Amino acid sequence: MNLMLMGLPGAGKGTQAEKIVDAYHIPHISTGDMFRAAMADHTELGDKAKAYMDQGALVPDEVTNGIVEERLGQPDTKVGYLLDGFPRNLAQAEALATITDKLNKPLDGVINIDVDPKILADRLSGRFICSSCGATYHKLYNPTKVEGTCDRCGGQDFFQREDDKPETVKNRLKVNIEMNTPLLDFYAERNLLYTVDGNQEIDDVFAAVKKVLDTIK
Ligand code: AP5
Ligand code: ZN
Repeated sequence: MNLMLMGLPGAGKGTQAEKIVDAYHIPHISTGDMFRAAMADHTELGDKAKAYMDQGALVPDEVTNGIVEERLGQPDTKVGYLLDGFPRNLAQAEALATITDKLNKPLDGVINIDVDPKILADRLSGRFICSSCGATYHKLYNPTKVEGTCDRCGGQDFFQREDDKPETVKNRLKVNIEMNTPLLDFYAERNLLYTVDGNQEIDDVFAAVKKVLDTIK
């Protein structure tokens, strides 16, 4: 299955992606994770991306499209892929269509996690992430089962994302809300769009996602 997850910052893309890749065994391709890994390694790409991410702005399309093309060309995507956080605007959506045509790996569906924008800042401010395996938690809505220990890998070191600071969150939400509707229209016109209610509890959102995936398979 060739899938894309859409949703505003904090909608739960990363959280649902973890569950989808565990259940369906397809590689998770998150442009945000790729940029953060490059930043941690202090590569040229990382330095370039940091300037934009720190402000909650989009990294330029030519940079982002290039890393996605390279990643989708790798052999593990033969079994399918789950794009998360890409495309984010119409130019990226057009670029993706060209890339997937060239690679003969067209999208089978786009899952839009729809959440009331009013609750997103709260989700982002309470988020914390396992430093060892990248599992995402929330201090109120999705805490670890044992305090201070990652459910997934047993790691005990966690961090908060730099761009989850309130000033940056404000701009991230503004930038993404503006681009969201045209992107939804783009995929609805191509009969690829499936919307799930992301205001529910995490497991209920996943149940809704699975229902959609059963219809796509
Ligand atoms: P990226 O890393 O993609 O971040 P984002 O889109 O802002 O989304 P998030 O990762 O913040 O949220 P999420 O939807 O994954 O939510 P999560 O599951 O963590 O991008 C970061 C930056 O990179 C961008 O700003 C940009 O600069 C750059 N970038 C990335 N892609 C780009 C592109 N294509 N083009 C240009 N630039 C790009 O959940 C959030 C919190 O809520 C967690 O604490 C979680 O535990 C909790 N939670 C999740 N689901 C629920 C639920 N149902 N109920 C209650 N709590 C929940
Ligand atoms: Zn972990």
